[in-house]
Amino acid sequence: QRAIKSICCIGGGYVGGPSGAVIANRAPSTKVTVVDVNSDRIDAWNSTKLPVYEPYLYDLVAIARDGIPGQREPNLFFSTQVDEAIREADLIFVGVNTPTKTSGLGAGKASDLGWLEMATRRIARCADHDTIVIEKSTVPCGTAQDMQEILKANAKPGVQFEVLSNPEFLAEGTAISNLLCPDRVLIGCFETESGRTAANRLADVYANWVPKDRIITMNIWSAELSKLASNALLAQRISSINALSSICEATGANIEEVSYACGLDTRIGPKMLSASVGFGGSCFKKDIMNLTHISESLNLPEVAAYWKSVVEVNEYQKNRFTQQIVDTMHSTLSRKKIAVLGFAYKKNTGDTRESAAISVVRSLLDENAIVAIYDPKVRRNQIFDDLKLSTDDQRIQVCSDPYDACEDAHAVVILTEWDMFSNQEKRTTPARLGKKPDFEAALRASLSDTMRGKDPISDGLDSGYDSGHSYSPGASSPDLGSAHVRPSTPDFVVQ
Ligand code: NAI
Repeated sequence: QRAIKSICCIGGGYVGGPSGAVIANRAPSTKVTVVDVNSDRIDAWNSTKLPVYEPYLYDLVAIARDGIPGQREPNLFFSTQVDEAIREADLIFVGVNTPTKTSGLGAGKASDLGWLEMATRRIARCADHDTIVIEKSTVPCGTAQDMQEILKANAKPGVQFEVLSNPEFLAEGTAISNLLCPDRVLIGCFETESGRTAANRLADVYANWVPKDRIITMNIWSAELSKLASNALLAQRISSINALSSICEATGANIEEVSYACGLDTRIGPKMLSASVGFGGSCFKKDIMNLTHISESLNLPEVAAYWKSVVEVNEYQKNRFTQQIVDTMHSTLSRKKIAVLGFAYKKNTGDTRESAAISVVRSLLDENAIVAIYDPKVRRNQIFDDLKLSTDDQRIQVCSDPYDACEDAHAVVILTEWDMFSNQEKRTTPARLGKKPDFEAALRASLSDTMRGKDPISDGLDSGYDSGHSYSPGASSPDLGSAHVRPSTPDFVVQ
């Protein structure tokens, strides 16, 4: 058996890039190559302006990609040479996109596995020695079996493949913390000797930095379903608290107090219990619709309806939010300027996929409002793309400063919970319920080589991502409590 000397990550997106950076960082004797068919993305990964914003990501990439003279050779590479990287690899992570199908059977619900199949066929075509292939993308149950069959049918003579499922649980905005200190690493394998051997070899890679008791092996279908189930449960909590928020608004109860009280119950816990304008991101809706589709395919209509209602409540919450803005502003937004603070689907990311901001801003435009948008990490062109508008559309102003966005606004709408938009202390939860204590130590250990005396946490490293904005959050964050909002209007909407 070959030792694992070379790892390839197919797909250099929000999962592949940060995962590759962490593996390369924590396993310095392993060569890690992240490949993508999108050459713009690869060029960005090879520059100082990464295509993905995540706190601390740039620092980890720079150490492993550029090396440290006299101390450490580069072991992280970004490339479009997919075939070459496949040939070299002992272990291949497939982390390509698996969006919801937009046409054909299961449109709007089932996952489009076209990219995954293309990557799998390419592996079969190129690999010239035994290779472990890891399903990292989120997929429906049974996909690993399909991959195994495709690989077997198309393998070069004498080449054996073993497919594992290793779903990714990182959350955007905290990806580096999640990857360095995961709650668990899940490895699903076929229940054969070769399957278990492959699972152990992957576990050895993670054991470079993850405690062994957090690396869990199980059957491959359980691993695949666990990922969909986790996202469904997380989204279900958000829809539950959002549904409760509408009862609060109708009764005079305060959702923050209700959420705080519920969260103190150790069976419930405080996380993912903040009411909001609704969840966004590329995963929650997609994965729940996938679960709905699977349930329908298995002839379990009640189960399908249950999960679908989580998405329906989310849509209801977004619509309710816009309705409230209109109601608060005397039933008309015509020619009123609305400042929108935050466009990403959550804080600490530049990702706008399925962001609630997109549908809220579209609804504001339908009401003939003029919308001024500020987000510290979302690129200007991305905002126009998401809104399906040309960049010269006069109804939208994209501002590089939050004060400009708020200048003369009739209302300010906060759609992303960036810290810079808040000057309020959050209610603290008891320490026993707080965050895991080991992330900062792990990050310091990872970065200490290059920090030359600086502290990666308190110095707030934040570089290496081009949002197209000159403003960057940090010590000089403006206090929006003093933002100039037209004083004559009482309309001030806060998420
Ligand atoms: P992404 O869209 O940011 O990145 C996927 C990349 O794969 C793209 O850059 C695309 O060009 C590339 N690609 C597609 N087919 C390829 C091929 N045949 N060869 C080489 N490159 C190819 O997607 P993201 O967000 O990284 O998600 C990837 C998978 O991970 C999805 O299945 C998603 O559900 C899952 N996931 C995503 C998380 C997230 O927070 N974004 C978290 C956990 C799982």
